[in-house]
Amino acid sequence: MSSDPLVIFTPSGKRGHFPAGTPILTAARQLGVDLDSVCGGRGICSKCQITPSFGEFPKHGVTVQEGAISEWNAVEQRYKDKRGLIDGRRLGCQATVQGDIVIDVPPESQVHRQVVRKAASARTITMDPATHLYYVEVQEPDMHEPTGDLERLERALREQWQIEGITADLSILSRLQTVLRKGKWAVTVALHKSHKDSVHKVLEIWPGMTEDRIYGLAIDLGSTTIAAHLCDLRNGEVAASSGVMNPQIRFGEDLMSRVSYAMMNPGGDQEMTNAVRNAINGLTEAIATEAGIRPFQILETVFVCNPVMHHLLLGIDPVELGQAPFALATSESLSLAARDLDLTVMNENAQVYILPCIAGHVGADAAAVALSEEPGKSDDLVLIVDVGTNAEILLGNKERVLACSSPTGPAFEGAQISSGQRAAPGAIERIEINPKTKEPRFRVIGSDIWSDEDGFEAAVATTGITGICGSGIIEAVAEMRIAGLLDAKGLIGSAAQTGTDRCVAEGRTHAYVIYDGSAEGGPRITVTQGDIRAIQLAKSALYAGARLLMDEMQVDTVDRVVLAGAFGAHISTKHAMVLGMIPDAPLDKVTSAGNAAGTGARIALSNLAARREIERVVRQITKVETAIEPRFQEHFVNANAIPHATDPFPELNSIVTLPTGDFNAGTGEDGAEGGRRRRRRRG
Ligand code: FES
Repeated sequence: MSSDPLVIFTPSGKRGHFPAGTPILTAARQLGVDLDSVCGGRGICSKCQITPSFGEFPKHGVTVQEGAISEWNAVEQRYKDKRGLIDGRRLGCQATVQGDIVIDVPPESQVHRQVVRKAASARTITMDPATHLYYVEVQEPDMHEPTGDLERLERALREQWQIEGITADLSILSRLQTVLRKGKWAVTVALHKSHKDSVHKVLEIWPGMTEDRIYGLAIDLGSTTIAAHLCDLRNGEVAASSGVMNPQIRFGEDLMSRVSYAMMNPGGDQEMTNAVRNAINGLTEAIATEAGIRPFQILETVFVCNPVMHHLLLGIDPVELGQAPFALATSESLSLAARDLDLTVMNENAQVYILPCIAGHVGADAAAVALSEEPGKSDDLVLIVDVGTNAEILLGNKERVLACSSPTGPAFEGAQISSGQRAAPGAIERIEINPKTKEPRFRVIGSDIWSDEDGFEAAVATTGITGICGSGIIEAVAEMRIAGLLDAKGLIGSAAQTGTDRCVAEGRTHAYVIYDGSAEGGPRITVTQGDIRAIQLAKSALYAGARLLMDEMQVDTVDRVVLAGAFGAHISTKHAMVLGMIPDAPLDKVTSAGNAAGTGARIALSNLAARREIERVVRQITKVETAIEPRFQEHFVNANAIPHATDPFPELNSIVTLPTGDFNAGTGEDGAEGGRRRRRRRG
């Protein structure tokens, strides 16, 4: 047994004997302990911080004496004076082993730290991004050894970091000499090596040891909205999240109308490509400002998107996606330079990764949902619906995963809805309707106070009450159905039929008034018959897609349902089921996963192994084409009723009783009574 001191690292539990005088960082490296370092042990980056522990450790079988670690040194003192160091912390590259010692590596000093997802599942993302910072000291040029600065930088990286081979674009080369001399032959470089690359690429270079952090963008490029997370590439933390409307909406609200625009208008595809790229540039600028960073610090971007958005982002005419057999230009993942996509606001050398598509109608967004929710690792049969302008639907378990995409249109995102709006402060996001009085109460984004509670007026004084967002409209329609304001066919009753003056006539149909601020110059927020129709079309498409996958799997029920969607993390599962958006399931088996596609993009940004994983997984997913499947139409028609014309909803019926009977437009009769009379007449 070695007489050298024993070094035990926590939380990893890794241990080994090292001669007295060995730096803690060296011991960590030899044991494969995850301890960060950007400066290579020179005492200037502070990434190697550790906490030594003293006393009795029966669990580890050691007693740690006071002198088990070297004395506090001048380098540590200098660092503490300049930048501060938490009491008890040491720099792992400066402190050396003197006796048996227990060393804790705090999370912020771990390279592959775990980032806990905020979403429902407690899955963690392990940090292993494609881009890292390295500090290197480069040899000065010498008359007797005529090598270029880049070659000497390459040699320094090989010697100091064991990095074999680098490439650098002209933009780096043109600055290299100035930066090297400014940094007195010491520089920090950001090197990128993706899972398919054989060498590292220099993306950015700073004189000396940089204080700059580096970032990546995870972008969910949807047909209606573009949502982005700005993530710190060192620890995976989301520094800012932001979104904008997709400006391509002016060329067509849904995907097929954009494909038709490209077909009918020469150069139309390029117009749409330019619009979306400009929007991403604007979003990059905005999100950097929000986080207080400079856009050049953004070195990577991961995109997830449906196939049409995928082609339009890349500048590929999407015309083939508008007709069978819906051939993609490529379904493989893509690694590109951001500047090839005209993404010029972020760093000029920034790299882009686009997740693979599953097939012609099932895109990289569905792949991202699969990466985030992992249906292929589920023991029970899970249905995952990612609700957007196009719904991505996955059904599967460990044996098999199926996927399809269904054209729901933008109604669930608040578009095509008379009082609809994007999820923003002032939008109604929650609503309840009293089944007896038929009076609504609601909450708007930006306040936790319900409209019938004290303090509501003051709480919404700055935002106002401006409209209804996607999750709000789902609740509104479902609550109207529960309260008997809406029949199973989706018809809104008159004031006489429903017993409330909030149901007002609008031409030959009716609308339900949720809020009327018109006396004070504010909006009048209603749910109209047209809104109900738009929601019915959207939810029928969603349900029909899910049913089609269930047919293919030869099942009539699923074990659990996961609702995901970019428009809001809080779709009410009960209301989604009342509406018949999803098949019947026990309510405690229906969960909400927030923006699963966006989470998938974050995972791919943070972890290279995840990129390999999803590229493998998409090949195993069976894709079902809704557009050419005759049963889709049949399922769609049956799903038009609220919740459904033929499928039973026993779980739903066990928690809510939905009024029966229907409204006979224009008779003024109460729904149930009218229904009875009609039956009597027919009899
Ligand atoms: S490794 Fe950089 S300060 Fe210790």
